[in-house]
Order: sequence, then C-alpha cells, then structure tokens
Amino acid sequence: MDLGIKGRKAIVCASSKGLGRGCATALAEAGCEVVINGRDAGVLETVADEIRRATGAKIVAVAADVGTEAGRAALVAACPDADILVNNNGGPPWRNFRDIDHAALLEGVEANMIAPISLIQALIDGMIERKFGRIVNITSGSVKAPLSGLDLSSGARAGLTGFVAGVAREVAAANVTINQILPGAFDTDRLRKGSQGAAARTGKDFDEIWATRAADIPAKRYGTPGEVGALCAFLASAQAGYITGQNILIDGGAFPGAF
Ligand SMILES: NC(=O)c1ccc[n+]([C@@H]2O[C@H](COP(=O)([O-])OP(=O)(O)OC[C@H]3O[C@@H](n4cnc5c(N)ncnc54)[C@H](OP(=O)(O)O)[C@@H]3O)[C@@H](O)[C@H]2O)c1
Repeated sequence: MDLGIKGRKAIVCASSKGLGRGCATALAEAGCEVVINGRDAGVLETVADEIRRATGAKIVAVAADVGTEAGRAALVAACPDADILVNNNGGPPWRNFRDIDHAALLEGVEANMIAPISLIQALIDGMIERKFGRIVNITSGSVKAPLSGLDLSSGARAGLTGFVAGVAREVAAANVTINQILPGAFDTDRLRKGSQGAAARTGKDFDEIWATRAADIPAKRYGTPGEVGALCAFLASAQAGYITGQNILIDGGAFPGAF
C-alpha cells in the first residue's frame, strides 16, 4: 500500500533502538524525511547511516535527551515544520512504588507525560495550518492492564492519554490526528534488561524467565520493532485521517478483554 506520505517530514523521538527505531525505519521506507534521536551520539549516527542505506531516505540525527527542555528544543529546531511526530522515550526503571521519591516521581512524569505534551504544543499549530498532522504516542499496554513495579510508567502514560484525548477532538477537523500505540511485550534491549533484572532479583535463569514470559502470550512469542513500525506508519498515513483519539494495543493477544 502506498501510504501517501512520501516527502512528509517526521520526528521520531528515542529512535536509535527498539520500538522507536522500528517506527523511524517504517516512515523512512514510506518515503518520509526522518529526524531520529537518542542520547548516545555515536550509536545514533551509526543507526542513521544504516536507515539511510536501507531506505534511501533523508535521515537527520539529533543527539539529545528528550526528557529535557533543551533536548526537545533541539528536536524542534531540526524540523520545525514536522508533519509527523512520534513521541517515544525510555521508560522509568522497575521499582517498588514505595521507593519512588519525589524527585523520581517528577522525572517519570517529565519523561513520559510532559515531554510528549511539550513537543505536541510546539509542533501542532504548524500541522493545523498545513491541514495535515499525524501524532503517534508510544505508551504501553500497562495503561490498560497494570504491571507491578512499572506504576510510574503506567501513571504518567495514562496522564498523557487523558490529556490528548480532548486535544485530539479539538484538532481533528484540521486533518491532524493523535493516537497512541500500546505495545505489549516486544523483543528489545529494554525488555531483555527487565528480564535480566528479574533474574537477578529472583535468582532464576534468564533464559527460563524469557521463555516463560513468551509462553504466557497467546501468540507465544514477543513482538518485533518492525511490527510496531508498520502500525505507526499506517497511523501516520494519508489513509488514517479518520482514526483519532484511539489507543491501539499491539500485544499478541495478551490483554484478555473483548474490547
Ligand atoms: N519493549 C517493550 O516490550 C515495551 C512494551 C511497552 C512499552 N514500551 C515502552 O516503549 C518505549 C521504548 O521501549 P524500547 O523497548 O524500544 O526501549 P529500548 O530498546 O531500550 O530503546 C530505547 C531508545 O530510546 C532512546 N532513549 C532512551 N532515553 C532517552 C532520552 N531520555 N532521550 C532520547 N532518547 C532516549 C535510547 O537511546 P539512548 O539510550 O542512546 O538515549 C534508545 O534508542 C519505552 O518507553 C518503553 O517503556 C516498551
């Protein structure tokens, strides 16, 4: 399918690895110019080269911490007229909710709620003027079904979800959409680190924990970043203009509800 976004400009936050990289690659394949981002400049430049070589797209690398105002300003400066914004970031570390102090609470809210809202505020009026905008927020299946130890992540992302639910309706008439992707378990560095942490906490073998978790998913496997990327590219497509304000699970059937 031609997604109708060739030549569109996209910013994909936190995209040197994992789900963000999957989204950046899929948008590049669809013909977009893509700003990619991560904090490690060396890794980012390597990934930019790899995506360029694989897709032929124009890729701009912005090494910055999206959890800071300066980092977000650098992203906006690199592409002030973005047509597509994919909000993504690292998630807060696994922690017992009792141990999250005030500073850590603020940091989690900044990273997973304030950062995406600030970028939306900076870019959405240009999208409205140009009568095309696609905003995709990568949140988590934990917004719908909590995961113990990731309470701050779930809470900050649920806050973002509530905030943009109204905004999505306010901008829909200008062909600007805002949707969330809610990933379940995907094979990325982050998920592997989570299972390594569980192995350290419980003394169990990593391979056993990793295999048991996959076996609990109805699809009996982890998702791939490419699968999130394909969903993201479709939500960013010209054809998806009538989908807005939605929270779309991609989890191999893990969430047990009928809807
Ligand atoms: N994987 C899953 O199963 C899953 C499920 C649900 C939700 N999620 C959420 O999806 C998001 C991405 O997860 P992932 O699994 O793709 O993680 P990942 O494989 O660890 O990749 C994270 C990416 O984000 C970048 N990054 C992290 N912190 C950043 C910051 N402050 N500023 C800019 N870039 C930053 C990293 O690069 P640098 O380290 O160089 O900055 C890297 O490119 C997370 O918020 C995670 O909680 C993941």
